[in-house]
Amino acid sequence: MARANLKKSAVRWFVDEAPEVVGEGVGRFRSPLAEGAPAVSIALVETPAPTGEAIDPDFRPIPRFAKDAEGKHLIRIDTDPTVSIYGTGEVAGGLRRNGTRQVMWNTDSFGYDKNTEALYQSHPWVLAVREDGTAFGVLVDSTYRLELDLTDGVFFTCCGGDAPLVYVLTGEGPEQVMRGLARLIGPCPLPPLWVLGFHQCRYSYMSQDQVLEVAREFRARKLPCDVIWCDIDYMDGYRVFTLDSEHFPKPLEMAQELEQIGMRSVYILDPGIKIDEAYKAHASGLEGGHFVRQADDELFEGSVWPGPCHFPDFLNARTREWWAGLCARFVRETGAAGLWTDMNEPAVFEKPGNTMYLDARHEADDELGGPDVHARYHNVYGMHMARATQDGLRHARPDKRPFVLSRANHLGGQRHAACWTGDSTSSWDHLAYTTPMALNMGLAGQPLVGCDIGGFSKDATPELFARWMGFGCLLPFARAHSDKETAGHEPWVFGEACETASRLALQRRYRLLPYLYTLFFEHMRTGLPPMRPLFFADPTDTSLRDAEDSFLLGDGLLVRGSVREDNVRMAPMPKGRWLRYEPAPDKLGATNPHLPELMVRAGKVIPVGPVIQHSGEYRIDPLTLVVCLDDEGHARGTLYEDSGDGHAHQSGDYLYTSYAAWRDGQRVVVGIEHAEGDRSRPARAAEVLILRPDGGAPVRAAGFGGDTIPVLMPE
Ligand code: GLC
Repeated sequence: MARANLKKSAVRWFVDEAPEVVGEGVGRFRSPLAEGAPAVSIALVETPAPTGEAIDPDFRPIPRFAKDAEGKHLIRIDTDPTVSIYGTGEVAGGLRRNGTRQVMWNTDSFGYDKNTEALYQSHPWVLAVREDGTAFGVLVDSTYRLELDLTDGVFFTCCGGDAPLVYVLTGEGPEQVMRGLARLIGPCPLPPLWVLGFHQCRYSYMSQDQVLEVAREFRARKLPCDVIWCDIDYMDGYRVFTLDSEHFPKPLEMAQELEQIGMRSVYILDPGIKIDEAYKAHASGLEGGHFVRQADDELFEGSVWPGPCHFPDFLNARTREWWAGLCARFVRETGAAGLWTDMNEPAVFEKPGNTMYLDARHEADDELGGPDVHARYHNVYGMHMARATQDGLRHARPDKRPFVLSRANHLGGQRHAACWTGDSTSSWDHLAYTTPMALNMGLAGQPLVGCDIGGFSKDATPELFARWMGFGCLLPFARAHSDKETAGHEPWVFGEACETASRLALQRRYRLLPYLYTLFFEHMRTGLPPMRPLFFADPTDTSLRDAEDSFLLGDGLLVRGSVREDNVRMAPMPKGRWLRYEPAPDKLGATNPHLPELMVRAGKVIPVGPVIQHSGEYRIDPLTLVVCLDDEGHARGTLYEDSGDGHAHQSGDYLYTSYAAWRDGQRVVVGIEHAEGDRSRPARAAEVLILRPDGGAPVRAAGFGGDTIPVLMPE
């Protein structure tokens, strides 16, 4: 990275004299040095229009703009050194980003580590939390390469294009700023329930028989799981949209057999289309003029897995429609439940920077900025591949919620795809990166995030794999994956003790599905990611700002573990009462040294279901309400329910229940405080567990789903 070491005095700085208010606490700033239209690729949602109000004279911080000697636009926000900075998207290393430098340039980063400046996704956004817990966010609306220097304040260098619009969001705390971000870039749509189940992947399961064998092994060993993934070896010579007829001869039969045992499959797609006259996808791409051209008007050609390829121009609506058509047909032919878009930075072997030429041409839609060079659209190429793929799933199954997992993406890309943290290594360092990476993705507007559980390259050890399952099964998206020629990451590979820990981790996840699903529903309303850093529990407590081996799920549950080989738990605890809860089958209070502890916050009710083997068995019967009373003897919590897929919830077919618990003399009464939605309440058993501050066994009471349940408390 060309260091942005310009002295503050070396350039002249300007401020926008007339910033626009575009919503509560949100100012939009324009560089007085701007020459043309701003990039708007992230703003394809309903970006709030200027309100016409003058900005509050106390609005802070105010960005400053300048241009360096090379004509690059600079954006600077001065901050006090006590301000903690987060949310820069996909970065390895610490949770707090102060003092780091980063490049926003989507890059295939196999074997990355904490010093790698550019990973697969770009999120030109920071969330800053002041010492007193108040917060602000800065969004730089550019798709070009950006350099972000956080060694002294917040300093963006725009390596191309006109000066972008800058949005500054302010709030009483980080939660308000996250709400503001979601209003600008949109939330992540509600995933189908099965996506929140467990996913098993490998590069690659080599045949349809092997896929089925793995699926059956999960069932035989009573390891809950929803999805087996098909990596590139299902293809015929790595030609996307084809199948190896010898090893995957009957994909629909495979899909049916999987369905019978409550499993699904997700298939990988790469953007490179093999140059091969006899290959239909290539022929139709050529005929339709869908491939990217170079500056000299020749087709851009680069090698990926299948050898020399042409690359679809996903920035163009006509090309996206063509791709969506191919995806839709592929989904019908294979019964794939979802699609995985990989190598879409795009990664191109043996080319400068391992990608497309910067002056290659994209026939981008007018609303994206119109025809221009790859340098402008590189960072949103993967996002638009994911968008086209999502369209394909919608075409094939309009009545289902589409699911795409994408390696490359950009701020706003949560509208189209989930993400994972790419080609990590099976090492303790990489286990340690996982939580802060996932947290910063969530703070950059991408809540549906996971990692390759166990690490991608090299071999894990039983201890490392068990610990990774412990954390990984509590991430918003949970998928185990492993590179070719490494030990597989199926839970049984590392022996019995590791399998036992993995089973408990999986059972925990499935028991917590009602809570997780509720958090994803609430995310659509609040913009808050389900997985949150510890400091969200108390933004004024600066001792929580660096906590990396603990995190919150919603505001009620705290996950506290260790990513160290010696298994010592380091993270501080937020103030107040937090009581331990272990949602394992019939093993309340049981511990497994490999798994993080779960703690419930005083004043919260957590809805939990029974252990199930897959999301098809999801009934929440009995419903368990885990209650941690506050000092006044109160607790509250919510549960969202719908059919688990489809769109009927958008027209009222859901049930959103607020539960409350309150002390009434010698009893605690637990009941429904409020309910929303047209869906009728299922008739089901309910169980209340009141956690006890003295660590004793919870006080239990049983009742019926919709009723008020009294719990007699011991003296
Ligand atoms: C890339 C992906 C990895 C996948 C492999 C083969 O390295 O990041 O997850 O297994 O390609 O498709």
